[in-house]
Amino acid sequence: MGPPPVAFFFFLFLIFIFSPFCFNVTSSSPTHSSSFSQFSGDQEDASVIVENFTYSPYSQNRKTHQHQQAFAAPISLPQFTFNSTDPTDPSTHSTMCNKAGSNPNRVVLPTNVTPSHYTLTITPDLNEFTFTGYVEIDLTIHEATKTVKLNTKDLTIKTTSIEVDGKSYEPVSTDHDEHHDTTTFTFDTDLSKGAAILRIRYDGILSDKMAGFYRSSYKDAEGNTKYMGVTQFEATDARRAFPCWDEPAAKATYTISLVVPTELVALSNMPVSSVTQVEPEQKTVNFEKTPIMSTYLVAWAVGEFEYIETTTTKLEKPVTCRVYTLPGLKEQGRFALEITPKVLEYFSEIFGTAYPLPKLDHLAVPDFDAGAMENWGLVTYRTVALLFDEKTSDLRFKEQVAVTVAHEIAHQWFGNLVTMEWWDHLWLNEGFATWVGTLAVDHLFPEWDTWSTFVVDDMQRGIGLDSLRSSHPIEVPVNDPHEIHQIFDAISYSKGASVIRMLSNWLTVDVFLAGIRRYLKKHEYENATTDDLWNALSEESKIDVREFMNTWTRVIGIPILNVTETDGLVTVEQHRFLSTNDVKAEEDETIWWVPLGVHPKPASIVDPNQTLKSRSLSFEIPEGAYLFNKHYSGVFRTNYPPSTIKRIGKAILEGSDLVGLSDRAGLVADIASLSKSGHTATSNFLDLVQYYKNEEAYVVWELLANRVGEIASIFADDERINQGIKHFQRNLVDRMVSKLGWEFPEGEDYLTSRLRNVILRSAGRAGHEATVAEAKRRFALFVSDPAHDSILHPSIRQTAFEIVLSQGGEEEFRHVLKYFHAAPKQDQQVIALLALGFVQQPELIAEVQALAISESVRPQDIFYVLAGLSANPASRRPTWEWVKANWTTLANRYKSSMSMLGACVKYPLSQSSDASLIKEVKEFFADKDTKDFQRALDQALEGLDINSAWVAREQQGLSEWLSANNY
Ligand SMILES: *[C@@H]1O[C@H](CO)[C@@H](O)[C@H](O)[C@H]1NC(C)=O
Ligand SMILES: *[C@@H]1O[C@H](CO)[C@@H](O)[C@H](O)[C@H]1NC(C)=O
Ligand SMILES: *[C@@H]1O[C@H](CO)[C@@H](O)[C@H](O)[C@H]1NC(C)=O
Ligand SMILES: *[C@@H]1O[C@H](CO)[C@@H](O)[C@H](O)[C@H]1NC(C)=O
Repeated sequence: MGPPPVAFFFFLFLIFIFSPFCFNVTSSSPTHSSSFSQFSGDQEDASVIVENFTYSPYSQNRKTHQHQQAFAAPISLPQFTFNSTDPTDPSTHSTMCNKAGSNPNRVVLPTNVTPSHYTLTITPDLNEFTFTGYVEIDLTIHEATKTVKLNTKDLTIKTTSIEVDGKSYEPVSTDHDEHHDTTTFTFDTDLSKGAAILRIRYDGILSDKMAGFYRSSYKDAEGNTKYMGVTQFEATDARRAFPCWDEPAAKATYTISLVVPTELVALSNMPVSSVTQVEPEQKTVNFEKTPIMSTYLVAWAVGEFEYIETTTTKLEKPVTCRVYTLPGLKEQGRFALEITPKVLEYFSEIFGTAYPLPKLDHLAVPDFDAGAMENWGLVTYRTVALLFDEKTSDLRFKEQVAVTVAHEIAHQWFGNLVTMEWWDHLWLNEGFATWVGTLAVDHLFPEWDTWSTFVVDDMQRGIGLDSLRSSHPIEVPVNDPHEIHQIFDAISYSKGASVIRMLSNWLTVDVFLAGIRRYLKKHEYENATTDDLWNALSEESKIDVREFMNTWTRVIGIPILNVTETDGLVTVEQHRFLSTNDVKAEEDETIWWVPLGVHPKPASIVDPNQTLKSRSLSFEIPEGAYLFNKHYSGVFRTNYPPSTIKRIGKAILEGSDLVGLSDRAGLVADIASLSKSGHTATSNFLDLVQYYKNEEAYVVWELLANRVGEIASIFADDERINQGIKHFQRNLVDRMVSKLGWEFPEGEDYLTSRLRNVILRSAGRAGHEATVAEAKRRFALFVSDPAHDSILHPSIRQTAFEIVLSQGGEEEFRHVLKYFHAAPKQDQQVIALLALGFVQQPELIAEVQALAISESVRPQDIFYVLAGLSANPASRRPTWEWVKANWTTLANRYKSSMSMLGACVKYPLSQSSDASLIKEVKEFFADKDTKDFQRALDQALEGLDINSAWVAREQQGLSEWLSANNY
């Protein structure tokens, strides 16, 4: 699936550690009842393989001093585990190391019968919100059996028969297991070994749950509510649309037909092969047969769609590319359409295999839970992740569209052509698509500095979450498919992509991509595991990739490199990094393989990759400034002594090329995070910031503004510090405010446009007088007359809204609300929703809260409102109260979308520093069933702990520093 949409916006609100797409730890119930376990897949003995992690000492060199401590201990087992398995049972980990089916805890279908082809006819009723289905499944019966078991969910089976050897049999019983989503057909005779055809007629529900085959609503030009139908099957919802073997490795081919009203457009993975008129008002649309593929990638849609089209020019077999939208929107798909052939051509080249289907469609869906879904040949998107209008959209959506489109297209190979053998390997799918999607965007738009954006966005999100005790290792065994949803989080996507970037730099991108080609070639149209990829990369590079990666993917957390300078030596020592800064010895046993990236490279380190494989290492202090983690390629934090920070700071001030763009950004991220955790004083961070006087780069400013703003936000209850920091912040941005102004000159480069918004938002939040006055002036003009539309450029509108609302304007609030209700485009609604949370008056805060769960806001969009309400100190506490008061409503509303429920818990608490809330939150949830958002809750509590400790620790030091520096 696409990157969690929340991630894009949440970043703007300073909180790196909370991605609401994080889920519960505990599974609902024992994974297998005894009646089920007999079908639990391959019963072959699971040999317990916990790899014996041994660490070869760093290559000895006379000048290299080794401090080899305690690294003979086996690596600590992942702390994160599902309750259904014993965390101390090493067999839990066997799924990570072994091939298919060797984990007996996996809840899978029996393998005595397997599908090879589905012929599927679906007839939706968009008025009654139902559909009927007929499926013929070509099967192979591997051993004679009386039962056939497959997945169904919320389907009503009407008739079933199976044809074996030319004879047809009907089941004597049909049993549904609700917990496991299975239906078992039992026959009174043995079905003999060989080919068979299973035929099932059934009914289903066209729900509004954004899962399975579901409906999505929109208003037509006359304001009438209308519906389209669309599918979303990942991870395990194909079973809501047709009876199937709903497991990623159970690949088959599909011939799909849709029976739909004549005037509607029907789409599926493949092009239309024929259309037949059934009745005057109904037609049957038949699609070509698909290649062999997984159930979760099957898709279809029906509705009043229009499209724009182009084709690839550089591929041997041209691919038709289209963007489909609801009526009137197709031109907004122009940008996505333009980049599609380029991305397809680029990937066809670097993956060494051409895109195998004749067409690739993108479809914008108004109701969409995730960001996007990579269905083969028919990719579906949340509207704001696909549509973009140069004239009316905030520019930031442009990069989001590019990144999302590239991510989904990457999946067409990595995921669709070669599919993960089981959900354990989801991180690889998502982490890789995120990395290679960024690679493609960087290739198409080198002027965007996308890798630096990656450093400040994805990397900080992944590292931030992984700095919590309540994190989990990248690789986690998934036993019950019900557990899958909880790993679609910043660890799988962002940390996953970050460690892949680190690995690709370690091996070099060329070697890495050669390994990817080898892997895709070997496993195309089949399934593969993480180990299969490591094998391909190891064969290509002649380096044991697994050894390097195990410490990054199988172990929770990331290291902090503590740097000290004594006796002419720099000593670096690695430990587990926790934002709570209270790591216990038993949590600190991992020795990561850390590519140090010291720059300039010390002569005494001979390994060109500078891989630290032991607890610590020393080298001679270089002359002048030096830097760890050059290009911020390694996934760790570096804690320098203050004197070293000063030396680097001076280099930054002098514009030395020692410190590049990613380095300047990474340094801000590291020192800010370390000051929050207490590894260094917050004043060291503020000292560092002062060296960025000449900074002009967008990504660096994004971090500077957010991390300084974060101090003001978290210390909001301390008037002295809050005011002092805001003063500091005003001083910081003043120069850039004057330089950039409010206008967007014709032909301005993308990054400068983005930068302007960052600067003005930061200035606004800090109460920068000229900025506030100008926001008010422009806003007044903007609302006075539609002819003044251009006074607030779309990329600055949200910021202007936020500023006027946070100044307490009631009249302005009415205007922004009106703007939201009248906005013709979803991205315009989104910016209004993000700003509305900044209102000040209690009654307006209550109104915004009520809006969040009203009919006007799509359920998928609640987090935009919550993000504003949580960033705003005036509404945090009331919003937590509101969540409590409306808990039953929220819990019912988001029953099937656990991510949103988690967001409702985490957001309002995320920037609070009130330690008493910890007890209160625990008490509130004490009598509630929290299993579906336990992880979000744990993270929220840990966040409160971190924030309140920060305030308690720094209250004095910070106010002293502020006074000493005249703030
Ligand atoms: C792991 O390594 C230790 C130390 O070398 C050795 O004593 C032990 O037998 C090894 N265990 C396995 C399972 O290989
Ligand atoms: C999960 O396991 C922990 C520790 O064994 C236990 O305290 C807790 O009650 C379990 N939770 C559930 C939902 O089974
Ligand atoms: C998974 O892929 C492997 C090849 O990588 C293949 O041998 C195996 O049969 C596949 N499993 C299934 C269930 O198709
Ligand atoms: C890290 O380095 C600092 C000096 O920069 C030192 O005071 C501190 O004790 C070190 N911490 C660890 C865990 O080594």
